Amino acid sequence: MEITFLLNGETVQADVSATHTLLDWLREDRGLTGTKEGCNEGDCGACSVMVTDTSGAKALNACILLMPQLHGKSVRTVEGIAAPDGALHPVQQAMVDNHGSQCGFCTPGFVVTMAAAHLNGQTDHNDQLAGNLCRCTGYAPIIRAAQEAENAPVPEWMHDALPDSVAHHMALPDSADALADWLMDNPDGTLIAGATDVGLWVTKQLRDIQPVAFLHRCVDLQQIEITDEMITIGAGTTINAVRTAMAPFHPSLAELLRRYGSEQVRNAATIGGNIANGSPIGDSPPALIALGATLHLRRGADRRHMPLEDFFVAYGHQDRDVSEFVESVSFPRQTDRLKCYKISKRFDQDISAVCGCFNICVEDGKITSARIAFGGMAGTPKRASCAEAILEGADWSLDTAQKAAAAMAKDFTPLSDMRASADYRIETATSLMLRYFYEDQGHPTSVLEVTS
Ligand SMILES: Cc1cc2nc3c(=O)[nH]c(=O)nc-3n(C[C@H](O)[C@H](O)[C@H](O)COP(=O)(O)OP(=O)(O)OC[C@H]3O[C@@H](n4cnc5c(N)ncnc54)[C@H](O)[C@@H]3O)c2cc1C
Ligand code: FES
Ligand code: FES
Repeated sequence: MEITFLLNGETVQADVSATHTLLDWLREDRGLTGTKEGCNEGDCGACSVMVTDTSGAKALNACILLMPQLHGKSVRTVEGIAAPDGALHPVQQAMVDNHGSQCGFCTPGFVVTMAAAHLNGQTDHNDQLAGNLCRCTGYAPIIRAAQEAENAPVPEWMHDALPDSVAHHMALPDSADALADWLMDNPDGTLIAGATDVGLWVTKQLRDIQPVAFLHRCVDLQQIEITDEMITIGAGTTINAVRTAMAPFHPSLAELLRRYGSEQVRNAATIGGNIANGSPIGDSPPALIALGATLHLRRGADRRHMPLEDFFVAYGHQDRDVSEFVESVSFPRQTDRLKCYKISKRFDQDISAVCGCFNICVEDGKITSARIAFGGMAGTPKRASCAEAILEGADWSLDTAQKAAAAMAKDFTPLSDMRASADYRIETATSLMLRYFYEDQGHPTSVLEVTS
């Protein structure tokens, strides 16, 4: 497939296979070896590049970025971070001045991620850099470098343009209608949205996934519509875009998404991919189910809608027909009562062992509605129906919360795996019910604070 994009400011036309990764292309076809391969699965940030499209500049992991995802965009690698005359970018100079590099293997990835954050004026350095791993320098000098560069002006060469015009491709549909047609013609086709799952099928499982269609040019699937009654999120919306949009409405959901993968992963992964992959440990489904979400599916011109929880039939089995795709997910506006608790071994950049989401509405001391959903407790994201039944209509009291917490053992029969034992999972679900209650009563429960 022929694609057009800008590489460090120069127009490139490349004839590539649909599953060629940017990292392999840069290193093997272009000899640009500054971009490093560490894990080859999106976890270490050694391969970070900056990609600009109509929504702005973002750091992404080149190892799970497939070449067709770049069509019509602009890529800047570590070789393009310094000025054309070799003058250092402010983040590079700050890394030198603060001794931010030892063996140097991680340094190109850090520098690119820092330069993208610098361009966007983002100063939440711990979050921005949580997806870049360094095994020898230690993070303090790197964070100091990022802080020191904060106020330096953005060098003018960092403002990337986009290619003037790009050819149309069948495998790169530019609307939901075109995607629907493609899927009707290619019922065995694979959809690729952010490729944060599919990229690993290519790099780790060496799977042949042809024919494929990429969703990133379907701008109509990337819209978030907010009315007085409903919030509707297009399937192609990235996790970072959802995080930003939800912060004023459901801050706990935004905080959950802050801990989703890393900046690079959140910039690529989409809400539709996070639902469609049917994972029992995906972070967004439990929160959306707790919010009473409806899933909107489309096959050709036909659409159907279902409560999101009904989509997850069993482990590895979703209620999705051949040629059908996820168009959007919607949920009613409400006064915020949502709390999301992600329990994982590491605080940042880790998959949930348990993810519990609680949405319990109370009027005059009585519970008027209760929706609780968990990831990591069953083969699918699942509601805590027994606990909900105890809560609905009851007084909002410690006694009720304790009874609902005890019901978690009836609701779930979790598995033991490398992330957590079954006992740990049940105990955690029970504790989270009480944590929600105590938090609602004004008791501090932040896991980042220790109180006596
Ligand atoms: C390093 C790393 C960290 C991660 N951390 C987390 C985490 O903290 N929490 C978490 O929940 N997940 C995490 N993930 C998993 C991954 O990000 C998610 O599953 C992601 O949401 C998938 O979305 P995507 O757009 O990248 O999907 P893709 O990889 O493009 O696709 C995933 C699947 O969904 C299908 N698909 C995509 N869009 C649609 C659509 N609109 N309709 C129908 N089918 C569709 C694809 O065909 C494929 O089967 C992580 C992944 C990586 C690599
Ligand atoms: S090589 Fe580790 S994130 Fe790409
Ligand atoms: S400087 Fe060696 S891994 Fe970071």
